[in-house]
Amino acid sequence: MKWSALTLGLAGSAQAYLRFGCATLSVQRLDPIVEPGKVPSSHVHQIIGGNAFNASMDPKTDIAEKATCTTCSFSEDFTNYWTAVMYFKARNGSYKRVGQYPNALLGSLTGGMTVYYLQQDFNSNGKQKITAFKPGFRMTVGSPTSKTGSNPGLRYTCLKDVMTRFPETADFPKEPCPAGIMAIHHFPACWDGKNLDSPNHQDHMYNTGKGGFVAAGACPSSHPVRMPQVALETMWDTTPFNDKSLWPTDGSQPFVWSYDDSKGYGTHADYLFGWKGDSLQRAMDSTPLLSNGLKTQSVAAANKCSVQASVKEEIDGWLDKLPGM
Ligand SMILES: *[C@@H]1O[C@H](CO)[C@@H](O)[C@H](O)[C@H]1NC(C)=O
Ligand SMILES: *[C@@H]1O[C@H](CO)[C@@H](O)[C@H](O)[C@H]1NC(C)=O
Repeated sequence: MKWSALTLGLAGSAQAYLRFGCATLSVQRLDPIVEPGKVPSSHVHQIIGGNAFNASMDPKTDIAEKATCTTCSFSEDFTNYWTAVMYFKARNGSYKRVGQYPNALLGSLTGGMTVYYLQQDFNSNGKQKITAFKPGFRMTVGSPTSKTGSNPGLRYTCLKDVMTRFPETADFPKEPCPAGIMAIHHFPACWDGKNLDSPNHQDHMYNTGKGGFVAAGACPSSHPVRMPQVALETMWDTTPFNDKSLWPTDGSQPFVWSYDDSKGYGTHADYLFGWKGDSLQRAMDSTPLLSNGLKTQSVAAANKCSVQASVKEEIDGWLDKLPGM
């Protein structure tokens, strides 16, 4: 089967979104947006996308020109997307990294995430111009220091099976999930029209999203430019740890993000734009997005792309502490 059929197989007649898979590119302690040049960065990330990913990533470089492969099914997408990594914390205090598995719709990709670009929602383009990101553009959503789950776009789903999508919660599920935990990150989609980045990597964007892939509100005058509504879904295979005799004796749940967050409110994600040329703009201009003209590649080609770890440390196996913590 061809990728286009796989990735776009559920397309409705008025489809107004791109949905595609990207395999894992790397798992290591690097963070070129928040801690550029720092090797290692403070906590472990899982990264997908183009192989121009490295510790520094100068904003003046168009990574779509520098990368030579991508783990994404759309072969013109050299963007890097990343989130923290989930660990299981055992009763004896040691940690084991939780694996990732691909969405059932996306074939046999290795780990990775599902990526969405919406014009407005699944069925409508909202009859509005969507302006693609530009080379050098980057943003983050969420913050490891957040103590509330107030952003409706940052959520968890306890998977009964691979297709479960509701309900969503702001914190980690409290009971074992038969098919793992899905972490969802919706990025903001209103741009100030001027800055490719900002000191906190968020102020140049404004979030009118309501989560759950429903249509976002209008962009405010401070951030008037409507960009694609980008979202990430990560399927964490927590099932090897579902035996409750392994869970904490105080009744709490055992999963933590790599920055040592057992509530899950600090969930965050990073976006560093890298679509080649005007490919994303052309796709966003097509109505419906199904007829987007984007190039695709095989699962095998996506799985083959990777980058060498520049941080040499143990991140798997049973660990006494979270790397960097
Ligand atoms: C990382 O990529 C930038 C360009 O984005 C390049 O200038 C730099 O040399 C690279 N650094 C490493 C350590 O590979
Ligand atoms: C801690 O517990 C885990 C899970 O039961 C076990 O696999 C691991 O060997 C233990 N580590 C130590 C240091 O006892």
